[in-house]
Amino acid sequence: MKIAVIGAGNMGGALIKGWAKSGLTTDLIITAQTKKTLDRFAQDYPDITTMLDNVAAVAEADIVVLAVKPWLVQQVIAQIQHILKDKLLISVAAGIRHERIDVYAMPNIAAELGESMTFIEEAEKAETASELFEKVGQCRIVPQHLMPAGMMMAGCGIAYVMRFIRAMMEGGIEMGFYPDDAKQISMQTMRGAVAFLQKTKLHPEAAIDKVTTPGGITIKGLNELDHAAFNSAVIRCLKAGLK
Ligand SMILES: NC(=O)c1ccc[n+]([C@@H]2O[C@H](COP(=O)([O-])OP(=O)(O)OC[C@H]3O[C@@H](n4cnc5c(N)ncnc54)[C@H](OP(=O)(O)O)[C@@H]3O)[C@@H](O)[C@H]2O)c1
Repeated sequence: MKIAVIGAGNMGGALIKGWAKSGLTTDLIITAQTKKTLDRFAQDYPDITTMLDNVAAVAEADIVVLAVKPWLVQQVIAQIQHILKDKLLISVAAGIRHERIDVYAMPNIAAELGESMTFIEEAEKAETASELFEKVGQCRIVPQHLMPAGMMMAGCGIAYVMRFIRAMMEGGIEMGFYPDDAKQISMQTMRGAVAFLQKTKLHPEAAIDKVTTPGGITIKGLNELDHAAFNSAVIRCLKAGLK
């Protein structure tokens, strides 16, 4: 099964690296606008086929993954439409719809590490697309009305989580740690929180109770977050992109 990735940028590149990591290198044909982008992949992944010609790439593929900027989707589909025939066309472009697209997918850049949280819109060929995206992380097939929420929680959400890590780092630096140490401490603490919730299956608040001594210091920090409307800020952040 040959996969053409049209647009080897941040998102396309993460998918390419993730699929390569899962062993699909010889199945990948990738394109970009400039040779410079393709050369970087050719150097790191000599088994991947690189091309500047979208039509030639699509001609060789069974599945086409469109990963260009949203405003280029229409133009690229017009360019490749005559050669698409019954090939599966998947788009990861945010918020752009086109009658020829078979499946809308919303991965995030952790695909590069096999850790994406990908949303796929319900469609006839959604299962086939899901099998592909499961190679780069977890995947959920959802109805169309949940795709924007999925995009905000995972596609964009990864940036919000990174912003939380930055905030924690800045607090750590103010209290005396060097930036690299503050980053490592923040990331390991977050990793620990995720692992704890995964293992115990506890609701976050039940897990928080295990860390919180009555009259102690954890509750002081938690209440400061509440006074600063932390929950509300996160909820508003997630809903901001739905407007
Ligand atoms: N970034 C994310 O985290 C993320 C998450 C989910 C979905 N998405 C979606 O992914 C899409 C790409 O976003 P991005 O952040 O990856 O953008 P990007 O980094 O700018 O990548 C776009 C890529 O498209 C290539 N390109 C431009 N015109 C082309 C053409 N005519 N034919 C073939 N390739 C062409 C560019 O080539 P050059 O490198 O040679 O210029 C570049 O590699 C967007 O539609 C976005 O909504 C992104």
